Amino acid sequence: MIIRKGLLTALLAVSVTTIQAARQNDDDRMNRFVDSLMKRMTLQEKIGQLNLPVSGDIVTGEARSSDIAGKIRKGEVGGLFNVKGVEKIRELQGIAVGQSRLKIPLLFGMDVIHGYETVFPIPLALSCSWNMDAVRASARIAAMEATANGICWTFSPMVDICRDPRWGRMAEGVGEDPYLGSAIAEAMVQGYQGSDLKAANTLMACVKHFALYGASEAGRDYNTVDMSRVSMFNYYFPPYKAAVDAGAGSVMTSFNVVDGIPATGNKWLMTDVLRNRWGFDGFVVTDYTAIFEMIAHGMGDLQQASALSLNAGTDMDMVSDGFSGTLEKSLRERKVTMEAIDKACRRILKAKYKLGLFDDPYRYCDPERIAKEVFTAENREVARKVATQTFVLLKNEGGLLPLPRKGKIALIGPLVHTRENMPGTWSVAASFQKYNSLYESMKEAVAGKAELYYAKGCNLMYDARREADATMFGREMRDPRTDKEMLDEALEAARKSDIIIAAVGESSEMSGESSSRTNLEMPDAQRDLLTELKKTGKPVILLHFSGRSTVMTWEQENFPAILNVWFGGSEAADAICDVIFGKVSPSGKLTTTFPKHVGQIPLYYNHLNTGRPLPEGEWFTKFRSNYLDIDNEPLYPFGYGLSYTTFRYNGLHLSSDSMSTTGSIKASVTVTNTGDFDADEVVQLYIRDLAGSISRPVKELKGFERISLKKGESRTVSFDITADKLKFYNSELQWVCEPGEFEIMIGGDSRNVQTAKMRLQ
Ligand code: BGC
Repeated sequence: MIIRKGLLTALLAVSVTTIQAARQNDDDRMNRFVDSLMKRMTLQEKIGQLNLPVSGDIVTGEARSSDIAGKIRKGEVGGLFNVKGVEKIRELQGIAVGQSRLKIPLLFGMDVIHGYETVFPIPLALSCSWNMDAVRASARIAAMEATANGICWTFSPMVDICRDPRWGRMAEGVGEDPYLGSAIAEAMVQGYQGSDLKAANTLMACVKHFALYGASEAGRDYNTVDMSRVSMFNYYFPPYKAAVDAGAGSVMTSFNVVDGIPATGNKWLMTDVLRNRWGFDGFVVTDYTAIFEMIAHGMGDLQQASALSLNAGTDMDMVSDGFSGTLEKSLRERKVTMEAIDKACRRILKAKYKLGLFDDPYRYCDPERIAKEVFTAENREVARKVATQTFVLLKNEGGLLPLPRKGKIALIGPLVHTRENMPGTWSVAASFQKYNSLYESMKEAVAGKAELYYAKGCNLMYDARREADATMFGREMRDPRTDKEMLDEALEAARKSDIIIAAVGESSEMSGESSSRTNLEMPDAQRDLLTELKKTGKPVILLHFSGRSTVMTWEQENFPAILNVWFGGSEAADAICDVIFGKVSPSGKLTTTFPKHVGQIPLYYNHLNTGRPLPEGEWFTKFRSNYLDIDNEPLYPFGYGLSYTTFRYNGLHLSSDSMSTTGSIKASVTVTNTGDFDADEVVQLYIRDLAGSISRPVKELKGFERISLKKGESRTVSFDITADKLKFYNSELQWVCEPGEFEIMIGGDSRNVQTAKMRLQ
C-alpha cells in the first residue's frame, strides 16, 4: 500500500510537472508570437489595439465613434462589442483580417449577463439558488450560445457587492455577501471559460466593475463611493479577487471614484492591488466612456484622463476615443512611455492569442452551430429548472401554496401577459416571440383542469411619463384604457374566481443600469389594485417581480402568500407554474436583506455591532443605536426563504471546542424534513469573531450546502472550520486570524441559527 501510495504521488508529480512544462511551452510560444508581431507594428497600430469603439446595437452612454470600417482597415480598432449576428461579425472580422496591413483579428465582446437567447434568471436571482452547479451551468450554456453567434468575450460576471437596493444594478450582481459572491464569481468564470479558452464554445470572462461600484452613495447610479480600505478588502474586493483567482481573462473598470480617483485612472487599484497583489495577468478594459467621464470627474481634459488611465494600468478604452485620440501626443510630450503602450498592447494581443483568434479568426463564426446549439430544448430545460430554484417564498400562511390545478383562478396584474418583461434587465439576445408570458404558460398548465380568468387590472404606475422611463428598450406595456375600465375588468375576473394570483411589482427596466429608485414600495397603481382585490375577500397570492430587494411591509401584513420571482429569464413563466402548482417546492434564499422601510438602508446582515447596540427584540431605547419610528430588524433577513415543507435543525455539534491555526474543527448539524413535501434546503454556516484587532461583524457567512431531503428524511451536514474561515484583513491589510473566541452558527437563514463557541489557540 505504502509503495503504491508512493508510486501514485510520484506519478502525480510527473503529470503536474508535464502540465506545467506544457503550459510553459505554450506561454513561450505565445510570447514569441506576440513579440514578433509587435516588432512589425507601428505606434498607431499599437494604439489601435487599445481602442474599443462603439459599434453595436446597444448604446448606454454617449456614443463617440464613427466610420468603424475605415478604422478597422487602418488597424485602429482592437475589438468591437454588442454587435449582434454572426454574419455581421464575420463581415467585420473579414475587414480586419482581409484588409488591414497586419491582419490582426478583432475581439468581439457582448453583455452576455445571464444567458444569451436562452435567458437565465437575472444574476441576483441566480445567487438566491445558492447552487454553484446551476450558476456554472448557466454560464456554460451562455458561452455555448454566444460563441455560436460570433462572440468570444463577455462583460460578465458582475460581482459588485451591494447593500443598497435603491441601486438598480443590484439586479446584475451577487447580493450583499462577499463569501457567496466569491463562490459565484468563481463558478461563472469556470462556466464561461471552461478548461480551454481556445475551444470554439468558450468565452473570455470580464469581471466587473472593478471596483466598489455597488457602493454608490444613496444608491444613485454612477455616484461617488467613499470607503475605508479595511471595508474594501473585507467586504467588497473578495468576489473580484475570486474571479481573478479563477483565471478571468479580463477586468472592467468601474465608473466611480476609489479614494477620490476614478477607478479607470487609479494606479493603486489597477496596478498595486490587481496586478501586484493579486497577480492578475489579463487585460483591463474601461467601462463605457469611463475615460471621457473623467473630465466631468474633474481629472483634466481627455488627454490628461487618457494618460492617467494608461499609466494606472488600464489597457483598453471603451468608446471614449481617448487612447486613440491622444496617446500619440502624450508620448511626444513624455506624459506616457512607449513601454506603457507596449505593455497594454501586448496584453490585448495575448488575449486574442489565448482565444485562438490568430489560428482562426472565424473560430466563433460557424453559422451551422446556431440551429444546433442555441435556444435548444435542452438549454431551455436547464434554464427552467434553474429558475425554479431562484424563487423565494416570503410568506405562505396556512400552506396556501402550492395550488391544486382545479377550480377557478383569476390571474391579474400588469406583469401577467408581457413576454418582454419576463427575462429581466440586460437580456440583449432574448427573442420575445419564442417563449411564453405567464398567462400563456398558466393556460397550458391548467388546461382541462381549472378555469383561468385574466385581467391586466392596472398599468405599472399612474404616471405615464414615469412608466415610459421604466419600460424602455422594447418593454413598453402601457394600456390605453382608463384606470376604471381596467379595474372593473379585474374585479369581474376576481368575482368569478375562487382564488386570485396577482402578478405585480417592477417591470424589467425598473432595475438594471440607470434605474435607481428612492421609493421601494409597490408602485401606486398596483397597490391600489391590490387593495381592491383584497376587498373581494378572495385569497390573493402575490407573485412579486423585482430586480432588487423592495419594501414589502404592507404586503406582508395584508396578503397570505408571497412568492418573489425576480426576473426568471426566458423560461420564467413555465418555472413559475412548476412552483405555483407544486411540481417543485421553492428553495431560493435571499442574498440581500429586505428592509421594513427605505429609511433603514443600508441594512445588511454582516454589520458591525456599534458601541450601543439595541438589545435583541427591543423596539426603541434612549441613547441606543436605533430609530424613534421603527425597529432595527429587516422584514426578511439575508438567507431567508420558506419552503412547502418545514426543516428542523438539531444538535449543533463541534468536534472540539478549540483548535490551532493549523488545525480544524468539524461543525455538524442534523437537518430533518419534517413536512409533507420533498424539497431542497440551503444550510448556512456563519461565524462571529468575538474580539479582534479591528471591530468584526456580528456574523459572516463562511459556508453553505444545498441539500435535497425527501419528506421525513434526515441528513447530517458538516463544515470544516479551518483558519482560513477565521481570517480577515486587519488594519495593515494583512490577511490574518487572531487567537480568541468565535461563535459558530448554523441555520436555515442568518437570523435563525444554532450557536456554539470555540477558541482559536
Ligand atoms: C455598463 C457595463 C457594460 C457596458 C457595455 C456600461 O454602461 O456599465 O456594465 O458592460 O456598458 O455595454
